Amino acid sequence: MTAEQVRQYLEYYKDLGITHLNLSSMPVFTAGAPAPVPSPAPVPSSVPIPAAAPAPKAISTPKAPTMEIVLPTLAPVGDTLAKIREDIGDCKRCGLCKTRKSIVYGSGDERARLVFVGEGPGADEDEQGFPFVGRAGQLLTQMIDGTAAKDSLPLRREDCYICNVVKCRPPENRTPLPDEMEICGQFLFRQLMAIQPKAICALGATAAKALLNSKEGVTKMRGNWQRWHGIPLMVTYHPSYLLRAYNVEAKKEAWTDLRKLFHFVLDDTKVDPE
Ligand code: URA
Repeated sequence: MTAEQVRQYLEYYKDLGITHLNLSSMPVFTAGAPAPVPSPAPVPSSVPIPAAAPAPKAISTPKAPTMEIVLPTLAPVGDTLAKIREDIGDCKRCGLCKTRKSIVYGSGDERARLVFVGEGPGADEDEQGFPFVGRAGQLLTQMIDGTAAKDSLPLRREDCYICNVVKCRPPENRTPLPDEMEICGQFLFRQLMAIQPKAICALGATAAKALLNSKEGVTKMRGNWQRWHGIPLMVTYHPSYLLRAYNVEAKKEAWTDLRKLFHFVLDDTKVDPE
């Protein structure tokens, strides 16, 4: 990487609110490469991001990494959900800000053992400012509370943390664009790193793509354990997909996935699902 590219990255991260770099987990940036798995220990040292030197005039405007969706792998030391929300501010980093009413950040327990990641807010979420509060959200609540209750597991929706890949509603509920996912994905990365859950559940293809950068469909990936930066991750169907009347089989499969996920998350004797 050239000094100019380093300078551009520093500016990009600074714009996203990151003011310190974690030296021990500093990634080697390779455009399009999968995100590296950080080593779990020891406690890293950090350095403040210096004010970037002004760019030579002939050099074009710095661009955020584009194309493949690879979430940047930097989080400030001692990050918290409150700090991340503060850094998001009244975000205007992508075009979704033009049509949104609310920034739908996430809700639930900051120390949750399980995080659900959806695609992006719909109309109800945009109106109310909270994730999964519309029809799909009601089904998600039933899926969590119902599955846990059936197996007498002490888990309810409020014990989990719920968020989305993008924090602003895409117009007409379209799928978020790669640049929207990449820009907002930085904050998702920080949310997950701050919470450090025991497991993550990716709801649907967009969340799976953002977190795993996999080209596989949900049908192929669901039910099998994957990893996001070392954290066990399960992909399952998005509740909106399950709301369609003909998806009876998919519903059964989603329930099977959640049972597997919950049993692992609540079993204190297991640190690894396999
Ligand atoms: N669908 C999502 O992906 N997220 C929400 O918050 C609501 C519906």
